[in-house]
Amino acid sequence: MKSALSLLALYVAQASAGTVIWNGFFNSSFTSSTFDQWSWSNQIAPWQWYIHGSAATSQYLGVSPNFKNPADTSEAQGLRTTIDGTAFWNGQTMERTEVIPQTSANLGTGHLYYHFSLKTSSTNAPNPGFEHQIAFFESHFTELKFGLISGASGTSDSTLRWDIGGVSQWTTTLQPNTWYNFAYDIDFSASTVGLWTSTGSDDLKQVIPNKSASTSTNSADWHIGVLRLPNGGTNAAAEDWFWSGIFIEQAPITTSIAGPKAGSAAPGSSTPVGSTTAVPTSSHSSTVVPVTTTSTASGPAQTQWGQCGGNGYTGPTTCASGFKCVAVSPPYYYQCQ
Ligand SMILES: *[C@@H]1O[C@H](CO)[C@@H](O)[C@H](O)[C@H]1NC(C)=O
Ligand SMILES: *[C@@H]1O[C@H](CO)[C@@H](O)[C@H](O)[C@H]1NC(C)=O
Repeated sequence: MKSALSLLALYVAQASAGTVIWNGFFNSSFTSSTFDQWSWSNQIAPWQWYIHGSAATSQYLGVSPNFKNPADTSEAQGLRTTIDGTAFWNGQTMERTEVIPQTSANLGTGHLYYHFSLKTSSTNAPNPGFEHQIAFFESHFTELKFGLISGASGTSDSTLRWDIGGVSQWTTTLQPNTWYNFAYDIDFSASTVGLWTSTGSDDLKQVIPNKSASTSTNSADWHIGVLRLPNGGTNAAAEDWFWSGIFIEQAPITTSIAGPKAGSAAPGSSTPVGSTTAVPTSSHSSTVVPVTTTSTASGPAQTQWGQCGGNGYTGPTTCASGFKCVAVSPPYYYQCQ
């Protein structure tokens, strides 16, 4: 009787909402210097921090209660990522400020939802004349983009778009001071991607159903932040992007912007959503597979997805064995694939 009841509790917990397998929530103790505690020799969860320019971390990242979606009750603070004319990383010609999940969980198997909310402000607004790649994977199988796409005609474009393999599936005109909530609906088994979105405090709604995509991740290449293609120029004007509610869960989806921990007593831990004590977290540990973290930093030969050419680029131009240098955004950006 007792085991039948706990099975029922397990079923109810799993049917009502997904299981969080990684979260990047910011508690009240988190500051921009917390990111600096991460290094290649000290790979502490939950965030990798190495893709940035040469200035102090606080110039590129900020953490504050003012930076989160007020409807998000799962965390105390949100994140600011800033791109400016100093944000060139590792000899590259692109400006980049990106944090990446640090976890031993397998973020590339089964049916997962990648959640985040994004906002800009009329202060330090993004430049619509430049292409921005946002919340992307190294292979770019799905991502957001903003601004004038490299090579497109015109001088400015205020479209925020969601792409599969570089083809826009959903677009909106980016409005400052509006929270856009997203979940990438990624089925790594079926090789499909869909999109759920909403604004403000509204629940997420499916806007694009499952579509075929080359879904893959090494669990260390979901880039939270912004890559700006300055298209040969340099622009010192700072742009701020604000982030909130960043977590990855197994299906089914949590649609509330309050997030998976609304009402939960255990902030900071990855607990099954909607459960109290019925579901031990260890019941999911068999699905958690450690992955090897690879650096995209330059070496004698560039690694997969690393830059291998482009105007002004000074890093390695040969690719590691098995990969070739592909013109992704010529003449500015070539990548090992
Ligand atoms: C706040 O979050 C950081 C990073 O996730 C963690 O190391 C720290 O223990 C947390 N602090 C509290 C008081 O929960
Ligand atoms: C999307 O899901 C539906 C329902 O499960 C399925 O019938 C359809 O084949 C899927 N589409 C793709 C592209 O996998």
